[in-house]
Amino acid sequence: MKAISVGLLGLGTVGSGVVRIIENHQDRLLHQVGCPVEIRKVLVRNMDKQRDVHVDTEKITTDVYNIIQDPEIDVVIEVMGGIDDTKEYLLKALLSGKHVVTANKDLMAVHGSELLRVAKEQGCDLFYEASVAGGIPILRSLVDGLASDRITKMMGIVNGTTNFILTKMMKYGSSYEEVLAEAQKLGFAEADPTSDVEGLDAARKMSILATLGFSMNIDLGDVTTVKGISKISEEDLQYSKQLGYTMKLIGLADRNGDKVEVSVEPTLLPDSHPLSSVNDEYNAVYVYGEAVGETMFYGPGAGSLPTATAVVSDLVGVMKNMRLGVNGSSLVTPQFPKQLKEPSEIFSKYFVRIHVKDEVGAFANITALFAERNVSFEKILQLPLKDSDLAEIVLVTHRASLHDYEEIMQMLRDIEVVKDVKSSYRVEGNLS
Ligand code: NAP
Ligand code: HSE
Repeated sequence: MKAISVGLLGLGTVGSGVVRIIENHQDRLLHQVGCPVEIRKVLVRNMDKQRDVHVDTEKITTDVYNIIQDPEIDVVIEVMGGIDDTKEYLLKALLSGKHVVTANKDLMAVHGSELLRVAKEQGCDLFYEASVAGGIPILRSLVDGLASDRITKMMGIVNGTTNFILTKMMKYGSSYEEVLAEAQKLGFAEADPTSDVEGLDAARKMSILATLGFSMNIDLGDVTTVKGISKISEEDLQYSKQLGYTMKLIGLADRNGDKVEVSVEPTLLPDSHPLSSVNDEYNAVYVYGEAVGETMFYGPGAGSLPTATAVVSDLVGVMKNMRLGVNGSSLVTPQFPKQLKEPSEIFSKYFVRIHVKDEVGAFANITALFAERNVSFEKILQLPLKDSDLAEIVLVTHRASLHDYEEIMQMLRDIEVVKDVKSSYRVEGNLS
């Protein structure tokens, strides 16, 4: 019985996990797909690096063409990262008739539609389950499990690094820098963690989720707001706690009628919200479908073995398709034209923290700005600021349009009694 031959691009955090799972699960793979799996070659950058898995030296190469041009290789697994060069390698692999499995959301968010088109034309599979939410099989759940429903909302904690950082900061008062270094050491963070902490990694994942969930071609540039966690202060976390909220980096994809909104930003959730109890590097995606109602998918969003599980499950999918002779036949064309909501059609509550002159009429001046736009308050706190003649005001509004909120923020910055708008965050809570 001929083994399926795999070329592995990358032997880092995820690649090592892939080697381990394929080695440890040979019997299971054989049972599931009826043939063994062999890792034929592995690409690395540095041949001399100490690895925490054993791979025979003769299988290791630093030349990608030894893999993508090897006629014996059936499936290329890409877990090296990168965008432009990696795209070229994967295109070449597909054009030589190889199936591709990737964990690379950076690549899929930008070039996914082109790669999927080429894969289909070539009769090849291109699977990318591990690119969103690590070990949670969320892409399959959207495409297969919820295929009969119309999804109207997805809210996700889809970045493990930032969830790890926020959890440690909120629960133990740890410093941002200290916890980021720990996340890097544990292998959750990207090689350059800027994309984690500034929200870009989550935005890439949300564009993939929205494309599949709404069957609409949502590009990275369609994610209207992309904000990270690097500017969240100790005070913001304290006030969130005091007011009964938990701060999370939330990716939101919302559909009303035919129009959608996709955003990523630090968001306050009521402590009772199911996403509030998703801690550490865990991810969760809340999905609302018109027929099914509320569902939530929870699990480890990063790390070696969880991510590798999703990668190897994709490999099993490719192998099953090979046996059935149906590779490249999954539907990849979005059904609906893209229609994005205008700022006047996007509604949310907001938390705002401002420093104002502690004088008669200051508060009235501020509330007038909100009242002029029919925005009322759900919660208000005012405290004198230590060692200063300023007061700190914390407001949580009722629902307002993004358009009105942005105008109010601009005017707040311009009025004389306001010394500084220290922070403002979206507040979510309604589940559906
Ligand atoms: P990593 O630990 O940095 O490993 C990258 C591997 O690729 C290394 O073995 C490196 O070789 C090799 N590599 C990178 N560029 C190369 C090049 N130009 N030529 C040859 N080899 C090259 O990265 P990772 O954390 O495993 O992540 C891999 C991919 O999975 C990324 O796309 C990432 O976004 C995605 N992902 C990661 C996680 C996670 O939890 N880490 C979760 C989901 C998805 P050397 O070892 O010789 O340096
Ligand atoms: N850096 C990513 C995260 C890895 O922290 O979620 C998983 O995609």
